[in-house]
Amino acid sequence: MKEINITTSFTIFDSISELSEEVQDLMNQAIEIRKKAYAPYSKFRVGAALLLDNGKIVLGSNQENAAYPSGLCAERTAIFYAGSAYPEAKILRMAITAASDTNQTTAPIPPCGSCRQSIAEYEIKQETPIEIYFMGEIGEVYKSSSLKNLLPLMFDKKFL
Ligand code: THU
Repeated sequence: MKEINITTSFTIFDSISELSEEVQDLMNQAIEIRKKAYAPYSKFRVGAALLLDNGKIVLGSNQENAAYPSGLCAERTAIFYAGSAYPEAKILRMAITAASDTNQTTAPIPPCGSCRQSIAEYEIKQETPIEIYFMGEIGEVYKSSSLKNLLPLMFDKKFL
């Protein structure tokens, strides 16, 4: 028997103003699209903005449904659109923000497990890392230089 230790690492910024101008711009676009989320059930709005290597920015917000599991997270709304409209483009980075209509979110809010798995698919497909920035409504911003930090021991096509 043996034990392994897997280390992942993140950079923490005190607030959005500590980010580079380019990343701030991407996060601001995530904030704007978050406000348009369709989240009548959870009242929890999420926005995602992707920068592609062709210069395009793709946005998404969570889209809920009365049949709850039929809804979709913001990250997947955005990444599936990017994969549909620009199948040849690489995703350089992703900015994510989440806010509740009922209480202010101050902690960085990471993508859920299904979104991590979906982002992983595109990172592996494009063979280059996707930078991921995530935050709540205000406060710290976490940066991961690759999806891999968020999903150790990931399942991918090499196992098929
Ligand atoms: N949600 C996202 O959009 N992204 C995540 O990574 C986590 C959760 C959405 C789904 C649902 O509409 C609401 O947030 C509450 O779970």
